[in-house]
Amino acid sequence: MYRVAVMVSGTGSNLQALIDNVHRNDKVDAQVVLVVCSKEDAPAIARAREAGIRAEVVTLDAHGGDRARRDGEVVRLLRLVAPDLVVMAGWMSIVTPVLLDAFPDQVINLHPSLLPAFPGLDAIGQALDWGVRLTGVTVHIAEEAVDGGPPILQEPVPVLHGDTRDSLGARIHGVEHRLLSRCVTLYAQGRIHRDPAHPRRMIVDDGGS
Ligand code: GAR
Repeated sequence: MYRVAVMVSGTGSNLQALIDNVHRNDKVDAQVVLVVCSKEDAPAIARAREAGIRAEVVTLDAHGGDRARRDGEVVRLLRLVAPDLVVMAGWMSIVTPVLLDAFPDQVINLHPSLLPAFPGLDAIGQALDWGVRLTGVTVHIAEEAVDGGPPILQEPVPVLHGDTRDSLGARIHGVEHRLLSRCVTLYAQGRIHRDPAHPRRMIVDDGGS
């Protein structure tokens, strides 16, 4: 079985999409085996527990605001389940090399824009403020630079006249749920690799779809 750990901070709708789409996909034997949440009382925790998945809360406050110490605890919990892939699905806290070096090329992040446009907080609001006609979704390798690693999958989402954060956000979330589920499925099928000739680029064998 391909073992997936998911890091979350809030609503957990992308975690739910993975539970709904990947667990039930009979073409791939993959399961979410652990959820780590950066906030007490986040709705994502209840989603995990309802699906029978172990959920652990690891806050920055409990580690005196020291990210490296906090990540040490995250790594300890992750190692207990030996994940093949660690998915940051709405994890809203900067991570350190303590985490990234423990799982090289195994930590991926979801972001609601076509990176490198609009990294950081409130990417949907940033896109609306800028007035772009097209934004989107990126799943990428996590690096120390916020939202900075090589893209794996990207999909554009048009910005429509009169769009608000809510209306654009709803369309972006719909794309995120599909794209992240597809990305995890492709990983579980061994169809995503770094390009040895161009280490910034990822090779995705998605059958041309
Ligand atoms: C998602 O839109 C995700 O792309 C974003 O947080 C949201 C989490 O939603 N992540 C970032 O902005 C990371 N820079 P969810 O909790 O409902 O899955």
